[in-house]
Amino acid sequence: MYTLGIGGGFGHDGSSCLLKDGELIAFAEEERLIRVKLAYRAAPVRSVLYCVRRAGISLADVGAVAFGWDPALDPDLAVLRETAKALLDAPALRQLRPSEIVYLPHHDCHAAMAVVASDYAADAVLVMDGRGETSSSTIYQTVDLDLSPVASMDVLESLGSFYSSATRFAGFGRGGEGKLMGLAAYSDPAAAKSIPAFNLVDDGVTALLPADRSSASPTERHSQARSGWFQLFANTIGGARDTPVPAPGPFDLLAADDHLPPSPWPGFALAVQNELERVVDHLAGLAIALTGAKHLALSGGVALNCSANGSLRRRLGPRLSVHALVGDAGTAIGAAALQQYRHGIDVRPVRHAYLGPQWSDDELRACLEQLGCGWREPSDLAAAVAAELADGRVVGWFQDAAEAGPRALGHRSILAAPNRTGIAHKVNRLKRRERWRPFAPSVRREDAVALFGVAEAPYMLEATEASPDARLAVPEIIHHDGTSRLHVPQPQTSGRFRDLLDRMKASTGHGVVLNTSFNIGPEPIVCTPVDAIRSFFGSPLDVLAMGPFVVTKSDSRKGR
Ligand SMILES: [Fe+2]
Repeated sequence: MYTLGIGGGFGHDGSSCLLKDGELIAFAEEERLIRVKLAYRAAPVRSVLYCVRRAGISLADVGAVAFGWDPALDPDLAVLRETAKALLDAPALRQLRPSEIVYLPHHDCHAAMAVVASDYAADAVLVMDGRGETSSSTIYQTVDLDLSPVASMDVLESLGSFYSSATRFAGFGRGGEGKLMGLAAYSDPAAAKSIPAFNLVDDGVTALLPADRSSASPTERHSQARSGWFQLFANTIGGARDTPVPAPGPFDLLAADDHLPPSPWPGFALAVQNELERVVDHLAGLAIALTGAKHLALSGGVALNCSANGSLRRRLGPRLSVHALVGDAGTAIGAAALQQYRHGIDVRPVRHAYLGPQWSDDELRACLEQLGCGWREPSDLAAAVAAELADGRVVGWFQDAAEAGPRALGHRSILAAPNRTGIAHKVNRLKRRERWRPFAPSVRREDAVALFGVAEAPYMLEATEASPDARLAVPEIIHHDGTSRLHVPQPQTSGRFRDLLDRMKASTGHGVVLNTSFNIGPEPIVCTPVDAIRSFFGSPLDVLAMGPFVVTKSDSRKGR
């Protein structure tokens, strides 16, 4: 039985997957295919077509479609209805005639994704996001994919809305939550003020907002919350931040503002971060208390907050799971998994994030030849790339299947040497990011243990304290507050990437590389070889390592 799972009903992070008899056989995020970050307001038609082609079937073979949201639960939220209709009515999908169409509650789908990604270790899931249809945080007790909600918070009490409102108030705009989180590190913790925003109560949290909780529509309450947060922030520190128009840089006309936002903004960021962590900590404790869980999994977009995750990890150790697809794209898999499970099908775990499109070495060579790129094929790719990194060059790295989720995990990455003074600044300029934003490392397991005291970090989603040795050895991947957001590759990670870390170990003494997503400015992470080649030639990237091939701009000018 083929089930097509669809994510992204709330107007962003559209995605599709195909489950065949419980096995995930295709997955894609719409933004990677249409090249528009977060794919706002886009029904995931392209990713459906990709999944069907990848599976080698036709649309007519799809037996069921499972949506990761339910329009009937909040009829006022038109986007839920319209996105589903746009997909089912799309001319390109007219051969799609499933015998079953199901709409599943959004948080159920987040929770199901967390369960399969935890390898069924989770017996409780805490979902926290901007909103589901009627709730913003939900605690589930789980036995396999039997999901029992034990606590649920209204959309008015949304942690996601709180944080995204603060992000906009601080001038970072839609999708800038990572900037606010990064800025918090620049405030002195000892001088941090607090912004009380939630009451912690026995069955959850309540927002300290002067909102009308009797309002009939979740959508009305959700919009009340957003304006309420702005008012609360204004009452606390004054008006919202005016963002300066960035000055053009030497390489592009869209360079980011390089200046650290002045006081009071770092303090504001830290106060918001502290409040988020206080509430997340309470909800995690509540989830364990209510369910008696031995293993808690997180899901929903709030679980992209690496600092909060790091804080929970210190408290829960290996009893915590945070998977790569905590955002709405993962609800496609959750929806398909629930639909098949409810038909008695055994749904297999999803143990890694390398779920996206991939190309063979022969296909990559053909692409390079077709586009007239100059390339060479070194006998030892890892040695060749390590030498480029040691010389201070910045490398675009394209290998195997694309990562699912927002983090580059060594398959679609930009790499640099973490011990080269000033390299983080160079990469920030190259990527058109603010100078003060941090970079994360990929680290061999042995080095992760030695330098950070961590052995497992497959998805780059948790901030970890760096040791004094790490601060000396690899200073360019340590954030201002002394933490780092580690990635420790899994066995499923490209062998070429693991070879590169081994080579870095041999040449520098530390198996560490600066690893950031392969995208420039506002574009999504590259997906296809053509995306990578276009980004390479359209940016100051020095080298492109694609499969076994190394591409440089000087070789390409000479031609082949
Ligand atoms: Fe969500």
